[in-house]
Amino acid sequence: MSLATYPPNYESFARMQNELKTSDQVTVEFIIPALEQLMLRHISKEARILDLGCGTGQLVQQLHIRGYQTTGLDASKELLEYARKNAPESEFILSDVREFELPPIFDGVFSKDVLLFLLNIEELTAVFQNVYAAMQDNGLFVFTIPLTDWLHEIAPPIFDHVNVNDECALIEIFYYKPEERMWEIKVTGFELIENIWKRSDTTWLRRDFFLTEVQSGLEKVGFTDISHYNLKDFGADESAGMACFVCRKPSLTR
Ligand SMILES: C[S@@+](CC[C@H](N)C(=O)[O-])C[C@H]1O[C@@H](n2cnc3c(N)ncnc32)[C@H](O)[C@@H]1O
Repeated sequence: MSLATYPPNYESFARMQNELKTSDQVTVEFIIPALEQLMLRHISKEARILDLGCGTGQLVQQLHIRGYQTTGLDASKELLEYARKNAPESEFILSDVREFELPPIFDGVFSKDVLLFLLNIEELTAVFQNVYAAMQDNGLFVFTIPLTDWLHEIAPPIFDHVNVNDECALIEIFYYKPEERMWEIKVTGFELIENIWKRSDTTWLRRDFFLTEVQSGLEKVGFTDISHYNLKDFGADESAGMACFVCRKPSLTR
């Protein structure tokens, strides 16, 4: 029996996520240029942007520095504590992506490495609906998601990610079950606290979706101008099978 919880529990891993996962360097060198191409050049310089599943807030801060009005939303209280320190002038909301309700104020919504934690197409479509409701007409929604269509060709059944610095280590071992399109991620973290190494373990579940499922979910909710790209074309890890979707909330007065 799997002991995985949903949303994934970051409680004991917040420091490792903050120090080892999305650094300012990765954000500036990889994410901002991709986002510039897919979203930023198409919206105004003062636009309001929502980072859905913002984690520890590095991207929120980089967007704030560039003049955007930024909000981060995440289900993890512990990650948001880091986000508030990393991006002290931005707004943060503790909420589940499946349940949030915000007025239609955002010109852009971005979500990276978050929707893969949703375990079925109904939940994914519910998130699309919430995003749509929170967006201005003509707003752009950009998100990453792993596509079954690509993973089945390339995914090894097991692989791992290891991230280490002097005081933390994070080991994630991914086991893929192709028949269920599910990934079980066994996570082990170590952090040095007052000269003693503390170990934490958990399991996260994630899944992938067919291209047609994602496209029809977006269309059902009302998004238009839907396109998708392979993240490896933006320099991402080739084994991840990750797509980046871009779509628009149409203007009803157009
Ligand atoms: C792999 S991290 C990615 C964080 C950040 N987007 C980045 O790229 O660095 C996944 C994030 O999604 C958040 N998350 C996962 N499921 C969520 C849900 N149902 N509602 C809100 N946040 C969720 C986690 O708390 C975590 O911050």
